[in-house]
Amino acid sequence: MKRTHHCNELRPAHIGQTVKLTGWVHSRRDLGGVLFLDVRDREGRTQTVFDPSDLPKELFERAAALRSECVVAVSGKVRQRPEGTNNPKIATGEIEVMASGLEVLNAAEVLPFPVDDPEAASKVNEELRLKYRYLDLRRPEMARNLRLRSKVATATRVFMDEAGFLEVETPLLFKSTPEGAREFIVPNRREPGTFYALPQSPQQFKQILMVAGVERYYQLARCFRDEDQRADRQLEFTQIDIEMSFIEREDIYALVEGLLQRVWKTALDIDVPIPFKRLTFAEAINRYGIDKPDTRFGMELVDFTEEFRASTFKVFSGTVANGGVVKAINAKGLAGATQGQMETMTETAKSFGAKGLAYIKVEGGEWKSPIVKFFSDAERAALTSKLGIEEGDLILFAADQWLTACEILGKIRLYCAEVLKTLGKLELPANRFDFLWVVDFPLLSFDKENNRWYSSHHPFTAPVADDIPMLKADPKKVRGQHYDIVVNGVELGGGSIRIHQPDVQKTVFEEVLQISPQVVQARFGYLLEAFKYGAPPHGGIALGFDRLIAILCGTPSIRDVIAFPKTAKGTCLMTDSPGSVEPKQLRELHLDLKAAKKE
Ligand code: AMO
Ligand code: AMP
Repeated sequence: MKRTHHCNELRPAHIGQTVKLTGWVHSRRDLGGVLFLDVRDREGRTQTVFDPSDLPKELFERAAALRSECVVAVSGKVRQRPEGTNNPKIATGEIEVMASGLEVLNAAEVLPFPVDDPEAASKVNEELRLKYRYLDLRRPEMARNLRLRSKVATATRVFMDEAGFLEVETPLLFKSTPEGAREFIVPNRREPGTFYALPQSPQQFKQILMVAGVERYYQLARCFRDEDQRADRQLEFTQIDIEMSFIEREDIYALVEGLLQRVWKTALDIDVPIPFKRLTFAEAINRYGIDKPDTRFGMELVDFTEEFRASTFKVFSGTVANGGVVKAINAKGLAGATQGQMETMTETAKSFGAKGLAYIKVEGGEWKSPIVKFFSDAERAALTSKLGIEEGDLILFAADQWLTACEILGKIRLYCAEVLKTLGKLELPANRFDFLWVVDFPLLSFDKENNRWYSSHHPFTAPVADDIPMLKADPKKVRGQHYDIVVNGVELGGGSIRIHQPDVQKTVFEEVLQISPQVVQARFGYLLEAFKYGAPPHGGIALGFDRLIAILCGTPSIRDVIAFPKTAKGTCLMTDSPGSVEPKQLRELHLDLKAAKKE
């Protein structure tokens, strides 16, 4: 059964050798009675030939009866493929193996979907792929993703080790802490009414490791968040989690730039230029309407507040009089947007509370729009020059308070880019990666519904030192030492310099975030106490490992880079989890069910 070569190994230099290959029957063709079986293993595939005129009848019949995905060992002699039959698409395409022996190691039933044809596989419904994940993972595209993931994990570990970091494992059975996403809780059999919680991240443990003197920690850490699932979010996911002592923000930037440079070189053989660009949060919002801008294309937001301050168009001048702004984008070449597309964009604006979405379509040398009749010559001239308006353009406006106006156009900008891509009017090369640090986030954001401040990042993030005196008096103005790393419009990671003074941390919990002293003591008492015994200044970051791999693989969904992901409903279709448990288990856990059980 032992092979002599793997299925991506044989070349013209092997011609004449007797070899043995093991693997799966990838595809089979019957040409004039001669049987061609491609044998596939993890490494690739090789064509084997069963010629009835050369073989005992019994052997040929066994070969002819083989189904796709049977497991076989084929032995035979390597030969040059006949003139004109080379397959330049595969590495073994110049040779073939003339079979003289065949062992059938296992049979395979007819597959629920084909694994040998990328075209057909892309049409298979994802639920079926997830139910038969072991077959899906046989597909070369998926196997490549798993392999790349492993390679990048190794490169990360080597890089971090070289940089003097220790990999430390932190507990998965943790406890519930307020703030952040909803948690998964685990009942404790030993003490009725008490629960562990699975960690949303190793945040508190990694900070404690700094107090413990580890200085440089990292971990490929599994995290759990009970949030709505999307293409870029899973209930459990992996972070490259990092923490360092005696550092400033610049040290984290330099470390992560070096790490990502190594990763891109290892995975894609691309030299990423460093240092990365930086954008403040305010500038990112002002120019792109989002805190994770895709800077591979322009279509930036342009401000017209001054130009429309005294406009006769009251929607604009009225907004400015109320302290708002007027902003616009030029979606070049999109004047032909359909009614449906215009409606989608208007609905986006309305979902932010705007009354509508003013626009200009530049077609046939004319500005087609319900509002241009209100514009003065000076207003028209300002629009033309600042937006570079030309035939075929679509101009879209938002008049609102600054953040809202920016966010509306930020969403619409991304939507227009998608439409322009499908029209072939916007092309983003597959190997272009725009890395960007977004910095100077506000430490706090206000939650109107609950009338309270909450942390923009998390409550352990340090304020900029100069702003600490404003914490209680003017929280809105306090900047946080938080940074995000963004690539091509994806938030790859985020981190911060942390608070290491127990009194500042207590002020943030109790007086700024309004968590009661009792709750602070119960949930974070150990952290505050640890800080009293010589906590070094420290900071860190976490990169979403699944998102990182998805970007490297060029796939929009992290499900494609996780071996056994969950569906949008949080289920595993292969194992049918989550599932029910025995009444005895519930009794042991002191749990009583009210809701109906799943059968
Ligand atoms: P944060 O919550 O920003 O920070 O998470 C860091 C990165 O983890 C990835 N990520 C996810 N990936 C997949 N599925 C999810 N549900 C999911 N949630 C987050 C993102 C994100 O940028 N402890 C802090 C880090 C720190 O301050 O050091 C933290 O977890 O790519
Ligand atoms: P109205 O005078 O309210 O009918 O609005 C005139 C035009 O301005 C319509 O095309 C609306 O869609 C658009 N509009 C209304 N409110 C806003 C807003 N806040 N920002 C941008 N355009 C708007």
